Amino acid sequence: MTGGEKLRIERGDITKLTVDAIVNAANEALAPGGGVCGAIHAAAGPELGRACRELGGCPTGGARITPGFGLPARYVIHAVGPIWRGGLSGEPALLASCYESAIALAAREGLTSIAFPAISTGIYGYPADQAAETAISAVRRALEAHPEVQEVVFCLFDGESEALYRRLLGRT
Ligand code: AR6
Repeated sequence: MTGGEKLRIERGDITKLTVDAIVNAANEALAPGGGVCGAIHAAAGPELGRACRELGGCPTGGARITPGFGLPARYVIHAVGPIWRGGLSGEPALLASCYESAIALAAREGLTSIAFPAISTGIYGYPADQAAETAISAVRRALEAHPEVQEVVFCLFDGESEALYRRLLGRT
């Protein structure tokens, strides 16, 4: 498994993780929302919202970076996942692009550890199993392109998602 030793699964709240960057499941406006985005903005403090406003948005499939402010993580990478519209509107490529863009951005900034939530699988409605397969293959590809990134954490909020990732990564 390429880069397999670099992939780790964590169960719980991504805002608690001490990594170089946590990834936010953001919207195109980079506005504070609900879900993991709401939790990250609440934990980072109001400076994060101000920093996001200065960025002026981000297209679906892209990623932007800000400091982590009050978070244990030094940075937040805001990645915009696709809204699920049935799967025939380019969702897999857009979802893969979020993961790849986030890792490319981390590498460009010299960051070596990054934690992802299950982007698009909450409010945006992407089926969890399909999203997980796309996420894992995109991360593996990105790690081949950016071997300087040492650790990628998949941070899963619920037991079902954790079990899904453990199965797909062959971990028990
Ligand atoms: N830590 C880790 N994962 C979490 C946390 C947390 N604290 N809280 C929720 N999750 P969602 P989306 C999981 O809805 O589908 C926002 O309003 C959650 O269980 O946060 O990409 C944004 O601003 C789910 O598996 O993101 C956008 O407008 C996963 O995180 C929109 O929602 C993603 O769920 C993005 O929707």
